[in-house]
Amino acid sequence: MEIRTQLPAHISRIVLIGFMGAGKSTVGALLAEQLQWQFLDADAVLEERSGTTIAEIFSRHGESAFRRLEADTIRDLLTRQRLVLAVGGGAIETETTRAALLCAPETCVVFLEAPLEVMIARCEQQPGAAVRPVLQDRGRLQSRFDARLPHYRKAHLVVETATLTPADTVRKIIASAVTLMKEDTPA
Ligand code: S3P
Repeated sequence: MEIRTQLPAHISRIVLIGFMGAGKSTVGALLAEQLQWQFLDADAVLEERSGTTIAEIFSRHGESAFRRLEADTIRDLLTRQRLVLAVGGGAIETETTRAALLCAPETCVVFLEAPLEVMIARCEQQPGAAVRPVLQDRGRLQSRFDARLPHYRKAHLVVETATLTPADTVRKIIASAVTLMKEDTPA
């Protein structure tokens, strides 16, 4: 597969979506490095701006307060150029965020797909797993995943990652984004 490190000029942002453990941060950092773009994790930006952690926001103010902050953060970040942005697994639960992601100009939304059990296993191997409030609520994981799936699948690109390394996933995204843009180009 040919690897291009330059995307067509009219994509100036790639947004990675997918459930917790999909690999958004790992793949995003690697993708940004290859493209020589900036990488940002919307959750990390939110924590920095609010001076608190997501777990604290959930426990003190509840999930809906977190979703509002998350939506504001993502809306602001969608104005940046040459950006790879990883957004939290539940960002697409907010209707305005879904619309903002899919309608933002020069923005390619990529869904990193994998079976739920693969992603839970990945999360459990990460040191920060314990501080993900949504992951701790085990009883609701499957229903949350099922409810989110149709929204994730509206992404411009879907990459099945279960058997791919992060580097393979990056190669696929770069190759597919080029293909997508070629299809967009009038004959
Ligand atoms: C959440 C996923 C987390 C974070 C928050 C809520 C979710 O991000 O935004 O804990 O609702 O799935 P990651 O998907 O990066 O773990």
